Amino acid sequence: AGSGKFFVGGNWKCNGTKDSISKLVSDLNSATLESDVDVVVAPPFVYLDQVKNSLTDRIEIAAQNCWTGKGGAFTGEISVEQLKDLGCKWVVLGHSERRHIIGETDKFIGTKAAYALSQNLGVIACIGELLEEREAGKTFDVCFQHMKAFADAVPSWDNIVIAYEPVWAIGTGKVATPEQAQEVHVAVRDWLSKNVSAEVASKTRIIYGGSVNGGNCAELAKQEDIDGFLVGGASLKGPEFATIINSVT
Ligand code: G3P
Repeated sequence: AGSGKFFVGGNWKCNGTKDSISKLVSDLNSATLESDVDVVVAPPFVYLDQVKNSLTDRIEIAAQNCWTGKGGAFTGEISVEQLKDLGCKWVVLGHSERRHIIGETDKFIGTKAAYALSQNLGVIACIGELLEEREAGKTFDVCFQHMKAFADAVPSWDNIVIAYEPVWAIGTGKVATPEQAQEVHVAVRDWLSKNVSAEVASKTRIIYGGSVNGGNCAELAKQEDIDGFLVGGASLKGPEFATIINSVT
């Protein structure tokens, strides 16, 4: 980990019931968490209110998606204003499942990011390459393209955390090695320095996601440019998520 405050997010994706979430919340409420870590969980929309009303204030709430602008006649969408009304502080945008399963484009994601930031909702901005892109030597190109789309859309990086999530590592049990993750984090920081500013490059936290668990988090956290994690499966288990949060070095 570098000098910025360690940041650990739990992305619950499309998982859980009222009962399982109530158990997870109670495990998180009773966990001992390192104080010097920002901790955020992203429950499914329908459980945001339940979680906000039962989870310790020590942990902030993120949404897993949002609409591109103000609410209105957009059937099935959820607006930034509604997320803020429920007490959300963050939104996850550009997740690979939304890019590759739902078909969201860079431009659409950038529009959402800009609107969320304009309403003071922090953005967890996800980037990352597919396996075939890595194998074709295109990892940096893809990550830089995702970065450029965010950079072109947002007015400031003050309220953004970048999550590098190689798609081949997501939900596969095939975690990136600490060296593989560090290499991309350095490249992304360097991209920020050249294309945004040296200050933004040094201040922006770049977290890693993709099969992070209680067993591999400590080695990853030792890397200079890994400023935290975005955790999927392992964030559904309170004690293991706490181990990951406490892996800060
Ligand atoms: O957003 C977190 C995620 O995509 C990683 O998922 O299950 O591999 O930790 P998982």
